[in-house]
Amino acid sequence: MKAEERLPVWVVLVAAGAGERLGGDRPKAFMRFAGRTLLGASLAALEDCAVVDGIVIVVPEGWEERTTLLADDLCASKTAAAVSGGASRADSVAAGLDEVPAEAAFVLVHDAARPLVSEDLVDRVVAAVAAGADGAVPALSLTDTIKRVAPDGTVLATLDRTELRAVQTPQGFAARSLREAIAGDRRDVTDCASLVERAGGRVIAVEGDPRNLKVTTAGDLARAEALYLERHGTD
Ligand code: CTP
Ligand code: MG
Repeated sequence: MKAEERLPVWVVLVAAGAGERLGGDRPKAFMRFAGRTLLGASLAALEDCAVVDGIVIVVPEGWEERTTLLADDLCASKTAAAVSGGASRADSVAAGLDEVPAEAAFVLVHDAARPLVSEDLVDRVVAAVAAGADGAVPALSLTDTIKRVAPDGTVLATLDRTELRAVQTPQGFAARSLREAIAGDRRDVTDCASLVERAGGRVIAVEGDPRNLKVTTAGDLARAEALYLERHGTD
């Protein structure tokens, strides 16, 4: 596809969580990672994607100014705004989406907690929504056997894993589908695609990237940092 034929692609980069499970002295996105911050690493990766036209960052209240400085330090020319998020991830996505201009045809939602996002993965997600899906999610097959277990530890069932997938971000959407879905009831969801699914949208699973780890615990942070340094060196 020639550049001039492409429709505008914007990213809502959500970084407004507290990071309780990581347990640092600041919000997770601002924890040190590979000589910068988790947010800085995720932002730099998205800035470097040719298909991305603009980025809105969503951070905890009071961290907006620091985020603007962080983006300036990275010469993040695509970053248009840093706004404060909400109580839930979906509320934070809604706050970010409000800052995405009407001209955006496609919106990617990405967790700052996934600094290993690659351009290939972004391209796969964008290609799926550009081909007409309402949404596209990177998905990985499961290798472990999956069981349903009661709170007391009793195994209730062993599931057939052939149709099950573990889903990552960035998740991509036709901008209108995401705006409509997020304007409705957004309680009890852990990703944006489920809102679009609930609204009857067609969501496609594309091949995920096993290296695209999500940082949740301190162990994840160490693992992700090792992978990141292997890929990028210490530049
Ligand atoms: N997020 C957000 N706004 C919220 C909650 C989460 O923007 N109210 C973002 C986080 O910053 C993160 C992503 O959504 O990039 C995935 O959330 P998660 O990994 O759960 O991060 P936290 O909520 O920060 O971590 P924890 O649940 O351990 O507190
Ligand atoms: Mg959380």
